[in-house]
Amino acid sequence: MDKILVHGGRRLRGSVRISGSKNSALPILAATLLTKEPCTITRVPDLSDIHYMLTILGELGCEVERASGMVQIRAEHVSTAAPYDIVRKMRASVCVLGPLLGRELEATVSLPGGCVIGDRPIDLHLRGFEALGATVRVAGGNVKVLAPKLRGARISLRSNFGSTVLGTGNVMMAAVLAEGETVIDGAAEEPEVVDLANFLNAMGAKIEGAGSRTITIQGVKELHGANHEVIPDRIEAGTFLVAGAISGDEVALQRIQPEHLRTVTEPLAEAGFEILSNGSQLTIRPGAQRRPLKISTMPYPGFPTDMQAQMCALLASTGGISVVTENVFPNRFMHVAELKRMGADIALQGPTAVITGVPKLSAAPVMASDLRASAALVLAGLQAEGVTEVNRVYHIDRGYESIDEKLNALGAQIERVKA
Ligand code: UD1
Repeated sequence: MDKILVHGGRRLRGSVRISGSKNSALPILAATLLTKEPCTITRVPDLSDIHYMLTILGELGCEVERASGMVQIRAEHVSTAAPYDIVRKMRASVCVLGPLLGRELEATVSLPGGCVIGDRPIDLHLRGFEALGATVRVAGGNVKVLAPKLRGARISLRSNFGSTVLGTGNVMMAAVLAEGETVIDGAAEEPEVVDLANFLNAMGAKIEGAGSRTITIQGVKELHGANHEVIPDRIEAGTFLVAGAISGDEVALQRIQPEHLRTVTEPLAEAGFEILSNGSQLTIRPGAQRRPLKISTMPYPGFPTDMQAQMCALLASTGGISVVTENVFPNRFMHVAELKRMGADIALQGPTAVITGVPKLSAAPVMASDLRASAALVLAGLQAEGVTEVNRVYHIDRGYESIDEKLNALGAQIERVKA
């Protein structure tokens, strides 16, 4: 298994081009199942999760062609059961359910299994499909949804933890071909939901209100092919902002949408960093003094759960006491034990991490447990004394395009060791 060696203490300076959003691209690729006509998606990041999604689409019968950031898909004939071997590798595979149900009135995928960031149910997705007229059957580890026809309905997708991002996308994709009007209350407001709605509208769907709590969909008879460019990855961008905060003299992010990053730049400014916005570029510089923070993760437009681990890596070496509360996935703290192995002083109290900043972290062999936790360990390594060995880096390759090369271009010293 590959590992990454991070030589700590190097200063970062320069600019980095941010890739297309993984979390946007995955449901958008799945949405191409809704038409027999060809679709072209650009700015698709080169990541293992994207590879899994394209493999699933291929197995479902789509013709898939890929060339540097561009993917062409034609779903002329499709089957309705996604193969377990691939689905089990990526939870986001569930987002083929909505478009298959919408088009074929039937879909089967394996139920997503346990996951290191806690129990991640899909009950809200299924409740939405049922409201549209589908029956849900669970047997042999699979979930099957089928319907004689889909009818528009009023659906609430609110959960105790906010709304559901992929659930909103899934229900939206099923509803675009349903008869009549569907209203989703408690919809997720994330920019990735808006991006998906924009793609569906480009295919001929009639969706209004994406980006707000209420989305209204007028069903149409069929969709046609469309071209679409995926939005920039706000979580990759946020991760590079934190890298700049941790070790940067001046780091500029290029090709981003700064308004998607406000939830990250505002706390970074509060922590004392200077952040300059210029069109599609953001620059971070150290300020006069670093300050601790109190942050709570929330659905968009709150502070993203996908940035919580990286922020812990920064606050671990920020003087004073910081408090980080995880409201979206309350068990998402696997990185804490690893950061403590690097000398961080963090006490967990239920869904809250109390972080007492230490002057310096020290290198240690650490284990990546999930995608964002592994990014946090690389960020911790940038500031640690010595060489930090991050094991199980396949997690990081699921969601960061060439993170080692991009950080090295900014002045970091990171080696990837092939096992
Ligand atoms: C997406 C993102 C993930 C991010 C998460 C929250 C993708 C591919 N992944 O995941 O990176 O961390 O949003 O911003 O886009 N829930 C239920 N029932 C459901 C569905 C969800 O109770 O049917 C709960 C979850 O357990 C969690 C909360 O709702 O506590 C939010 O989860 P959700 O928004 O669905 O996450 P994903 O869409 O899977």
